[in-house]
Amino acid sequence: MSQYQAVKGTRDIFPEEGAQWKHVESAVHRMASLYGFSEVRTPVFEYTELFQRGIGATTDIVGKEMFTFQPDPAGRSLTLRPEMTAGVMRAALQRNLLSQAPVHKLYYISELFRKERPQAGRQRQFTQFGAELLGASSPAAVAEVVTFMMQVFETLGLSGLRLRINTLGDLEDRARYREALREYFRPYEAELDDSSRERLEKNPLRILDSKNPALREMIAGAPRLFDYVKAEGVEEFERVLRFLDDRGIGYDVDHLLVRGLDYYCHTAFEVTSEALGAQDAIGGGGRYDGLSKELGGKEMPAVGFAVGMERLLIAMEKQGLFATLNPRGPMVYVVVQQSELADHGMEVAFRLRRSGISTEIDLAGRSMKAQMREANRLRAAYALFIGQSEFETGRYGLKNLVTSEQTTLEIGAIIDILRETSVEESQRG
Ligand code: HAM
Repeated sequence: MSQYQAVKGTRDIFPEEGAQWKHVESAVHRMASLYGFSEVRTPVFEYTELFQRGIGATTDIVGKEMFTFQPDPAGRSLTLRPEMTAGVMRAALQRNLLSQAPVHKLYYISELFRKERPQAGRQRQFTQFGAELLGASSPAAVAEVVTFMMQVFETLGLSGLRLRINTLGDLEDRARYREALREYFRPYEAELDDSSRERLEKNPLRILDSKNPALREMIAGAPRLFDYVKAEGVEEFERVLRFLDDRGIGYDVDHLLVRGLDYYCHTAFEVTSEALGAQDAIGGGGRYDGLSKELGGKEMPAVGFAVGMERLLIAMEKQGLFATLNPRGPMVYVVVQQSELADHGMEVAFRLRRSGISTEIDLAGRSMKAQMREANRLRAAYALFIGQSEFETGRYGLKNLVTSEQTTLEIGAIIDILRETSVEESQRG
């Protein structure tokens, strides 16, 4: 064993699990293309101010969880991205995307970094898939991203999900509400825990998010943000709910849902999974109409979501959704009978691969018996035998490893059979 271990809060993914990732990723790519979202990739690090301005200086993410570094004494502070929305908005503004078309629908599968205490479902490097719809945040646009997200869960077969949704009003509504919360909690200041006391002045909405059971009753009695939202905001929210009703998407309106990032306004939502433990939030999102301006751009309505891939995979594993996932082996394993024929074997293997047939061949000079064992271990569909007489006649033995049927054919005919099988398999998915 090496003296080095993976850093706490990070993990390696090996082929077996890799197949699960691929399965989920291809569902995301497929759904994105059905909904007309195009992939965006942004740098892994950005200037620290982007996140301070974008996510909010008083949030846990910016206050405690960012991996920040200074490239050189004179350089500007940099931060590994803790989420994608701020970076995507920065990129859209920099490219002046909205001048090209009024609405842009972008999605990503990206690695993120947060200095949180690692535990099950909480890592320091993790992955999200998400979507950002820039240029619109109408009830239809909100419904579009929520439906996209929920349909990914549905196609993957995930159950036991709960979608909670709330309206946070606009900046003005929230400022009035913040004041009301401070007034409500101040008399209880001595009873609050340390983190809630700290939030009282800085960001009292976050107290509502506290998981401390001792505060539950106090929080339940707090004024509701909903009562501070102007009538038109309430009306819009109701239209979002109607859209979800029409699409048959179940939800709970949760007036305590506030989310941990400051850029949200109006609709915000979160999905939890009963298959997960303490870290049961599998995804979340909402509208962020103010982010563009906050970053120095023009007014730009926007809405998006992100889903934690690791948590999604844990939930799927718990629900047995990978049980039938059977990563396919190579189409053919080229078995070489004597070492003198190894070069010829390589030539045949390359020819097969150039013809689009997945092919494996021994690279370690192993015996024929060992090669057959390997072909079975890899679950190859066929074995192609190369011996002296095959070499001389140009006709090879082809064995179907499932039915054990064997035939002798020229390479062209073999390629035809294997290609046909490959096409059939790919059509079966
Ligand atoms: P978020 O709620 O901070 O939102 O993260 C979204 C999801 O990422 C969470 O629900 C969770 O599944 C996963 N996640 C977060 N932190 C960790 C972690 N340390 N380890 C494992 N998984 C984690 C956002 O990031 C927003 N940018 C979402 C959004 C997009 N809003 C609008 N557009």
